Amino acid sequence: MAPTRLIAAACVVGLWLLLCLWARRGAMRQETQHALAQQALDAPIPEDTLLVAYATQTGYAESLAAQTAESLRAGGLTVRVAAFDQLDAARLAGYRRMLFVVSTYGEGDPPDAAAAFADQMLPGAPALGGAQYAVLALGDSEYAQFCGFGHRLDEWLHAQGAAPLFDLVEVDNGDPAALRHWQHHLGLLAGRSDLPDWQAPAYQSWRLASRERLNPGSQGGPCYLLTLTPPAGADGAWQAGDIAEIGPRREAGGPLHAHREYSIASLPEDGAIQLLVRQMLGADGALGVGSGWLTHIAQPGDPIDLRVRVNRNFHAPADARPLILVGNGTGLAGLRALIKARRAAGHRRNWLVFGERNAAHDWFCREDIAAWRGDGTLERVDAVFSRDQAERRYVQHRLREQADAVRAWVDDGAAIYVCGSLQGMAGGVDAALQDILGDARLQVMQRDGRYRRDVY
Ligand SMILES: Cc1cc2nc3c(=O)[nH]c(=O)nc-3n(C[C@H](O)[C@H](O)[C@H](O)COP(=O)(O)OP(=O)(O)OC[C@H]3O[C@@H](n4cnc5c(N)ncnc54)[C@H](O)[C@@H]3O)c2cc1C
Ligand SMILES: Cc1cc2nc3c(=O)[nH]c(=O)nc-3n(C[C@H](O)[C@H](O)[C@H](O)COP(=O)(O)O)c2cc1C
Repeated sequence: MAPTRLIAAACVVGLWLLLCLWARRGAMRQETQHALAQQALDAPIPEDTLLVAYATQTGYAESLAAQTAESLRAGGLTVRVAAFDQLDAARLAGYRRMLFVVSTYGEGDPPDAAAAFADQMLPGAPALGGAQYAVLALGDSEYAQFCGFGHRLDEWLHAQGAAPLFDLVEVDNGDPAALRHWQHHLGLLAGRSDLPDWQAPAYQSWRLASRERLNPGSQGGPCYLLTLTPPAGADGAWQAGDIAEIGPRREAGGPLHAHREYSIASLPEDGAIQLLVRQMLGADGALGVGSGWLTHIAQPGDPIDLRVRVNRNFHAPADARPLILVGNGTGLAGLRALIKARRAAGHRRNWLVFGERNAAHDWFCREDIAAWRGDGTLERVDAVFSRDQAERRYVQHRLREQADAVRAWVDDGAAIYVCGSLQGMAGGVDAALQDILGDARLQVMQRDGRYRRDVY
């Protein structure tokens, strides 16, 4: 063999050996990393540690889990991150709060590395009573079983006795707006409302046309009806149930802060986006960033950065089925848009259950509601005022008193839509509906899209 050929052959063999070594080292490093991560998970769990668990095929859920953990740690929380193949059902019982970031494959299946865990997701004695959880479900709505594994996990956790911190968040094809919605909840968990958006919305410049106080003299925080007009040439497309993402500022012309979300209270036919916004104060008495901007700092005529987030989960039913609309406070915003949409479609079997503090001050949009009651858009209206009598009464109490009527409407095919406070109202209404309809029936309704919530 010519020496050059010999040298070339030696080079090839040498290169191959190097490659083998490199691959082996990589594999060993991965094994070591895995073992270290497992060791960290096996260590005793400091009290109040939040678990962030991910199930991933191609790494997206893993990177979102890391960002989730980072946001929570920024608020001073202790967080452990784990892949599903490092977990089993028994291990979950060591945590009081758990966040799951999971993708879906095939026929609603888990990613491969989560298959063993999924095999343990069986009905059985509830082992997670007292724990709280949330699910970020990644998927692609082109597939029939959209976010199927996320929903299966959610149902299993619920059956295990764990309570949702907030409703499952579906992410269609990496939708940044859905991720911002997840971030809103992380901010509340972490007690930090100043965390930057992972990806800021592409806003349009709308204009604050008018602002009207809805509850003068109220014992509660001031609440306003805002009317925002679109920029020339805006596509102006939204549906009842959609959300306005707002870019707040501390002063007109100042820098933008992380987005805030508000339920849209109007239809495109109204020519404007209307919002019901409650002015919030922080623990230090300072104006909330988003609500302060909208209710105090921005003045009529000022530009407002706004982007519509499609919120398919809260769109009106496509047919004429009866609708029970339940909400409190500014939750009336989303319900108002839905009632307008039902009216436009000629669907008149609508029952509104609205709660606030005092009838004399907090009967938001009373004229609208009276007009809809008058023209038959609302078949039934129940307004519940918590502080108009000695004992506190809320919408969930009215639902319980009207259990027979609720069952009759649901027997007629009604869907139930709930909008407003996550704290107090949403849980109270959920418990009332479970008692009135039974847990199994309510779960089927949820799966069939007949029980929907937009709560915050
Ligand atoms: C899907 C969705 C729809 C929403 N629709 C409406 C709506 O129609 N009308 C409306 O007024 N608000 C609505 N909100 C709440 C809104 O997005 C803001 O959270 C709220 O205006 C407070 O923001 P802020 O920037 O003024 O307060 P921040 O500066 O973030 O915080 C100020 C104080 O308010 C507290 N706080 C912040 N957010 C909440 C919250 N959600 N619940 C209770 N306390 C809170 C903080 O802990 C802090 O003490 C909605 C939220 C979501 C996720
Ligand atoms: C082959 C294949 C099958 C998929 N099947 C589904 C499915 O049934 N339902 C769904 O919601 N998403 C499905 N997806 C979308 C993934 O869940 C989505 O891309 C997710 O963001 C991937 O996250 P990961 O990288 O963490 O695994 C599928 C994707 C691929 C490539």
